Amino acid sequence: MNIDNTKPVMVTGANGYIASWLVKKLLDEGRTVHAAVRNPKNEKKIAHLIKAGASSKGAIKFFASDLLEEGSYRAAMEGCEIVYHTASPFTIDVKDPQKELIDPAVNGTENVLNSANEVSSVKRVVLTSSCAAIYTDAIDTVNAPGGKITESVWNKTASLDYQPYSYSKTLAEQKAWEMAKAQDKWDLVTVNPPGVFGPPLNPHNTTSESMNILKMLGGGDMKMGAPKMGIGLVDVRDVAEAHYRAGYTPSASGRYIASGHNTNFLEMGKVLLPKYGNKYPLPKKALPKWLLMLVGPITNKLFTRKFIRNNVNVPWKADNSKIRKELGIEFRSLQETMEDSFQVLIDEEIIKAK
Ligand SMILES: NC(=O)c1ccc[n+]([C@@H]2O[C@H](COP(=O)([O-])OP(=O)(O)OC[C@H]3O[C@@H](n4cnc5c(N)ncnc54)[C@H](OP(=O)(O)O)[C@@H]3O)[C@@H](O)[C@H]2O)c1
Repeated sequence: MNIDNTKPVMVTGANGYIASWLVKKLLDEGRTVHAAVRNPKNEKKIAHLIKAGASSKGAIKFFASDLLEEGSYRAAMEGCEIVYHTASPFTIDVKDPQKELIDPAVNGTENVLNSANEVSSVKRVVLTSSCAAIYTDAIDTVNAPGGKITESVWNKTASLDYQPYSYSKTLAEQKAWEMAKAQDKWDLVTVNPPGVFGPPLNPHNTTSESMNILKMLGGGDMKMGAPKMGIGLVDVRDVAEAHYRAGYTPSASGRYIASGHNTNFLEMGKVLLPKYGNKYPLPKKALPKWLLMLVGPITNKLFTRKFIRNNVNVPWKADNSKIRKELGIEFRSLQETMEDSFQVLIDEEIIKAK
């Protein structure tokens, strides 16, 4: 499959935490980006993209699109060979998971891909899926064949009642593969990151859960200790690079686990200690599992006993060899990612010294 670099490229949810870095990369490479956002008149959400466009070789054009409005991505897609579909609600604390997560994720994906079927220029769709479409709890990674998750594993444990965000990502990716297999005009490549961290390009207007976790780590919520909860971590700049290569590498195919590190909350806090430990209330030790079992469910309704049992003191393990081999991705160190993210929160006064 040959991609014409002079053709525009479309990004859904272009203002998001991850998509912003992808848009910047595309602009720096000289592409014309069709940026689909909910409200192009909301300057706070797109000023950083306009700035990125102005200081690059590329060009950016905004379109108003909503996942729940049928056909609303069509105009932005016209003339594009590559479609990056990143838009999807990323929030954990929801009241109505069907309405807030599943409908926009699944119907939104269907909506975008229906337009990809109709718009003749589209040759490849790169979907921002997630490791959440592969696993729910850290224990699922340990129980995977070979003791770690690979691209052939699917999430079978999330549901509307348990970790509905992971369920939304699983159903959305499954819908995308079903629609990809039903036609042969475009091919589908998915990028599946675990927890994405690293500096946000629009720190005050980023609602991604990634920012909330960073604020919890450095803002004092974990000063008595952090749960040694296994998670995967990748730098947002590496995720953008992975998307870029997934789009523009003709041989790219299938799913790509984009995970840099098998880590846990405690380790993420600890790598910040040498540089920031004196000034900021960072966690220094692990919270015992028995204590979390006792108080966790009272302090946070998402911290159920089942969740604690399946994640705390359980390692998280993923195999990232496919993306390294096929797309040549090299991952930044945990230290660099954590320090760069934390510094932005300090510089922007989002967290304060103790
Ligand atoms: N951050 C992570 O750790 C992580 C890990 C794995 C996968 N992902 C995936 O990466 C993608 C981007 O996430 P992110 O972390 O960058 O979060 P984010 O900053 O919250 O970005 C989400 C994007 O989706 C858009 N969106 C949400 N609901 C929409 C709707 N109904 N119609 C149109 N657009 C809508 C948001 O627009 P508004 O700004 O207007 O709300 C925003 O542009 C998501 O698919 C997420 O599942 C994230």
